[in-house]
Amino acid sequence: MSRGAASQPQVQRVSPPADRRAQLLDDVVRGLADTPPQLPSKWFYDGRGSALFEQITQLPEYYPTRAETAILQAHADALAAAADADELVELGSGSSTKTRLLLAAMHRHRPGPTYVPLDVSETAVDGAAEALQADYPWLEVRGYVGDFEADLAALPRRGRRLLAFLGSTIGNLDPDQRPTLLAAMRAACDPDDRLLLGADLVKDTDRLLAAYDDPAGVTAAFNRNVLEVVRRELDAEVDPDDFAHAPCWNAEQDRIEMWLVARRDTVIALPADGQRWTFAAGEGLRTELSSKFRRDGLSAELTAAGFEVQRWLTDADGDFALVLAAPR
Ligand code: SAH
Ligand code: TRP
Repeated sequence: MSRGAASQPQVQRVSPPADRRAQLLDDVVRGLADTPPQLPSKWFYDGRGSALFEQITQLPEYYPTRAETAILQAHADALAAAADADELVELGSGSSTKTRLLLAAMHRHRPGPTYVPLDVSETAVDGAAEALQADYPWLEVRGYVGDFEADLAALPRRGRRLLAFLGSTIGNLDPDQRPTLLAAMRAACDPDDRLLLGADLVKDTDRLLAAYDDPAGVTAAFNRNVLEVVRRELDAEVDPDDFAHAPCWNAEQDRIEMWLVARRDTVIALPADGQRWTFAAGEGLRTELSSKFRRDGLSAELTAAGFEVQRWLTDADGDFALVLAAPR
């Protein structure tokens, strides 16, 4: 494998764009028929959604990104040494901003690592790959646009692997789906590979709610963006402004839930497909779960999936955990 002077980042699509529309249609038709009506959160992330998420990470109320960054700043070198990996495979990589700390540490430990970002957002993977390649000429970037719940097994291996899943995106999965994804991550690991998992921890309810309900309205715009995606990509009849951003804390399930609640009687319709869902004022659809974790529970889930927790790192305030785990 040659690493030429002018490394070009490579980004591949795992499935063709035509499948995207069919998948979105399927998810909308099935999700809106559910009780409660819901939409899978991966559809937040078109170009505008990814840009809005980046703004969320900068909000004073949104502590998770800063907390995880602080952990990486303190421990990236130790993590790179412990993992001793040739490639970093990152699920839901987004802008890869925090990942830079890890990549730089990997390069100090063992020069010339490969970075394999996998994200459903084409603009995110393209943008991150280009920016990283410009700033880190020593880095081999092989990016994929795809679904981490479906496509992880399709990624070719390029040596010893560190699999990263940051930002507490694990918390955005339905709890029923978490064992399946953790098992797929375990299956993607050889005995010497490692998993690095970022998880937001249960804390004071007011702080949790504030992180998902900023006064500037960025999170509200992000939440409504899923309806913009549905409107544009499916030619749907829907007015996102008919829906209010309504996060709540579900104490039984230890999770923030993101809802869009109808402000007046309204409809979401797919004229071309003859589908129509009515929402009376006050009725809602659920757009996101953000589960918050406790050490015992998350460790047990990792153990059940075939991992052994090697390090449990938190920020100074104990807000967020970064967990290094090994196949057992
Ligand atoms: N890791 C980044 C971004 C977190 S936001 C951070 O910590 O800041 C969640 C990211 O996961 C987004 O970039 C979104 O596009 C991506 N994503 C969400 N669902 C996905 C799925 N099913 N498959 C692949 N990527 C997904
Ligand atoms: N992984 C992020 C989280 O759960 C995603 C996120 C942040 C999010 N803010 C949001 C999802 C607002 C929906 C709405 O914290």
